[in-house]
Amino acid sequence: MLIIVGSRRDGNSLKLAKKIKSAFDNIRLHTEIIVPGNQKIHICTGCMDCDRDGICGFTDDMKSNIEKIKNEKDILFITPTRWNILSGDLKIFMDRLNPLFSTRGLKGKNMIAVSIGAKSDDLYSTEAALTSLISFAEASGMNVILDKKFNNCLNSDDILSQQTEIDNFINELKNKINC
Ligand SMILES: Cc1cc2nc3c(=O)[nH]c(=O)nc-3n(C[C@H](O)[C@H](O)[C@H](O)COP(=O)(O)O)c2cc1C
Repeated sequence: MLIIVGSRRDGNSLKLAKKIKSAFDNIRLHTEIIVPGNQKIHICTGCMDCDRDGICGFTDDMKSNIEKIKNEKDILFITPTRWNILSGDLKIFMDRLNPLFSTRGLKGKNMIAVSIGAKSDDLYSTEAALTSLISFAEASGMNVILDKKFNNCLNSDDILSQQTEIDNFINELKNKINC
């Protein structure tokens, strides 16, 4: 499973990713965390050349990211909620996945969608951010097999006080990906 983390700080998203990775390491299931914000990734210019031949002219970290995505069935996106939508780092990453569109390279892959935000659940902010991840899944033909919101996380380690929710989510995730 690939875990794509939409925040570049050592915050709630990365801490959750590390907990998931550790749980899966314990059952010898390979996971890898990618933090696009800490990589070298050019912003898509919209040239559309990749629609023709599936190849992007930029040489940067997206080359290896795309190879990893091709080889994985399960891809977990964790986004911090920013202005009710996904983070800019994740959007830049998603745009650069367009070379996979012409070959239907994302179709049929499993998406696990997670949003994390400072606001409470009743304000629908993390719900809206989750919807932006799910919209990407719909556009790319991925199947959302599990989604989850973590609310009330403002400071960088607030999620650590939600250990029961994290454990429950990890157990659900294990069930969904049949391990
Ligand atoms: C630019 C910006 C916009 C934000 N907008 C929202 C928002 O609309 N709703 C919300 O619940 N939290 C919002 N937050 C708070 C973050 O979602 C929250 O701090 C989250 O835990 C950050 O994840 P991280 O620790 O992984 O970076 C915003 C934070 C930033 C920096």
